[in-house]
Amino acid sequence: MTGRGLEVPRARGEEVRRRLVERGWLDPRFEILREGNSLVLPLAADAAVPDDWGVEVERAFPPVPRSGPSDYRELLDWPAEEKRELPRSFDVVGDVVLVRMPPLLEPRRAEIGEALLAFVPGARVVGADRGVHGPERRRTVERIAGTGSFRTRARENGLELEVDLERAYFSPRLAREHERVAADVRPGDRVYDLCCGVGPFAIAIARDGRARAVTAVDANSDAIALLRATLSRYPFADRVTPVEGRIESFVPTAAPRERVILNLPHEGIKYIPSVARTVAPHGRLYYYEVASRAEFEGRLEVVVGALDPGASWAVVDRHVVHPYSPTSDLVAWVVERGGT
Ligand SMILES: C[S@@+](CC[C@H](N)C(=O)[O-])C[C@H]1O[C@@H](n2cnc3c(N)ncnc32)[C@H](O)[C@@H]1O
Repeated sequence: MTGRGLEVPRARGEEVRRRLVERGWLDPRFEILREGNSLVLPLAADAAVPDDWGVEVERAFPPVPRSGPSDYRELLDWPAEEKRELPRSFDVVGDVVLVRMPPLLEPRRAEIGEALLAFVPGARVVGADRGVHGPERRRTVERIAGTGSFRTRARENGLELEVDLERAYFSPRLAREHERVAADVRPGDRVYDLCCGVGPFAIAIARDGRARAVTAVDANSDAIALLRATLSRYPFADRVTPVEGRIESFVPTAAPRERVILNLPHEGIKYIPSVARTVAPHGRLYYYEVASRAEFEGRLEVVVGALDPGASWAVVDRHVVHPYSPTSDLVAWVVERGGT
């Protein structure tokens, strides 16, 4: 695999390797390269390594040889034509494995669950992911192998977040986005994280230490309880104020902030007019929406048109976070308010 690596002098190799492991930034699937007096450590996709740890380079990394199978499907003794129907991908959150089950394979879900449980190192329970539902975006999950609940600790960006995959929204596919927004916060900024879920944006921002204060708001009381549980383990807890409440009641009396996140991808657009008024001059709104690919260009007029018309706005960035369905994407917007 060709990917990002961190080049460090051999003398610092062990110290930097340990720091990368602590943050979950070393990609354990690939070998460390030895080049003269340097080592090149393979980096995980979400690694955001400070400049003074080493020099980022691109390299082809050979995979670490595995003693067992390289794919969970090898553990199932099924005919080849049946194996072709098996899901190729799955998510790992802490010690929980989540897999989307094709309807045809429902009767055989226990076999698939057992194979995943045996394949994923450290897995405790495997759940069939039936998607997120309702205004609080709770996930319906059925246990198909292993034991216990879907409460676990998710590792992302070097943090350990308390999650309960049935009771509050969490997606392991947003780690890069959480890191990206945190990196955009300037010293002294005050932040609203609206629809914060279990708080991955708020916690990453507070950990980075530049924000003066972060207020994290969500309507789901379980999400706020999980956020409080995570904060109780970290020394930066006092920078985050968790608020259990709805945007509709919070925003009308909210004072302006330099950074405002609105992550409610199916219906966030209806809150943009009121939320945009909480963005301070020169401040930024980070807005997420699920948009059909065919509409991508047309959304510019809709989103910019929903912003506070009493101010000038610039679209600083718009990018696809990940595909959402065969015809739509999760799209991130960054818009900045002008100075008056
Ligand atoms: C997509 S999740 C956001 C998750 C989180 N920001 C993250 O990055 O993991 C949307 C969240 O919005 C919350 N929510 C839905 N409607 C709301 C409302 N009107 N006011 C406040 N929170 C709301 C849900 O409870 C859910 O936790």
